[in-house]
Amino acid sequence: MLIKKPDDVLGSEITSREHFMNRRRFLAGTTIAGVGGLAGAYLLGGSRSSSAESKQKLVAAKRADFSVTEPPNSYKDVTTYNNFYEFGLGKDQPAENAHTLKTRPWTVRIEGEVQKPRTIGIEELLKLAPLEERVYRFRCVEAWSMVVPWIGYSFSELLKLVQPTAKAKFVQLVTLKDSSQMPGQKSWVLDWPYLEGLRIDEAMHPLTLLCLGLYGEVLPNQNGAPVRLIVPWKYGFKSIKSVVAIRFTEELPTTTWAKQGPSEYGFYANVNPEVDHPRWSQASERRIGELRRRKTLPFNGYADQVAKLYQGMDLRRFY
Ligand code: MTE
Repeated sequence: MLIKKPDDVLGSEITSREHFMNRRRFLAGTTIAGVGGLAGAYLLGGSRSSSAESKQKLVAAKRADFSVTEPPNSYKDVTTYNNFYEFGLGKDQPAENAHTLKTRPWTVRIEGEVQKPRTIGIEELLKLAPLEERVYRFRCVEAWSMVVPWIGYSFSELLKLVQPTAKAKFVQLVTLKDSSQMPGQKSWVLDWPYLEGLRIDEAMHPLTLLCLGLYGEVLPNQNGAPVRLIVPWKYGFKSIKSVVAIRFTEELPTTTWAKQGPSEYGFYANVNPEVDHPRWSQASERRIGELRRRKTLPFNGYADQVAKLYQGMDLRRFY
């Protein structure tokens, strides 16, 4: 990334896990019928947010099999320590500045090598498949990490909808480009719009999440509202925010960081403690909120599920 590795950051409070658990008990008790009955749907009203804005609540059944048992970081950590260069380079800037992003109406174009190209609205995306809560480890390339209770469903649900052709080998995702809503785009720190990509088998892997919320609510703007990707075994920069287009391609697509610094950021970006970033080690990480460093796990701890995708590949070369 463009900024210093944040070794000096002290985490904020860890108390909100309890708050989170109480909240989950409340939701489970009051709305369980909604989980299946309303096609995974949502909408309880009310508010809880770091900003003044009230957030749409989401009801999601927990995917225990896809969730880690480590305690999630606090809502405050997750929503005030962010990377979202469209709103500034500082970790606190997205939370301060992202209120200018308008997330309704919002559509996502799905195009390229698909049999059924289409544009899909955010309300339809929220109902496309039952929403699941997945507590994932999240490892940033800058060697910090968090645990986050994301909400969404497997990205592969979208593939079912548009039916990629036999030529579709990759998928590219594109963030909104609109400097009136994303003031950071007025500067040239990155070549806008932010772009990311996956190989088609990575995109189809059930852990790859089309993410619509966190902590029981729609995504806060600073976390990539209204829709982003989460790929838990890859460095956080692959988890592109505020997506407006998804393109299926035959050729390896351009991605922002691979273009920005090809010797530092590869297309695959699998979390790998054995391959250092040229400017720092990737062997350990600082979990936000903890003082002692943790050892970084291969594929961020998801090796059992995903290592087979890379069999026979030299992961030092394909970083
Ligand atoms: N997506 C866009 N559009 N712009 C960004 O600057 N930053 C990436 C990723 N997605 C980024 C982005 C990086 S470097 C990280 S670590 C994660 O978002 C941070 O996600 P979080 O703020 O929700 O923790």
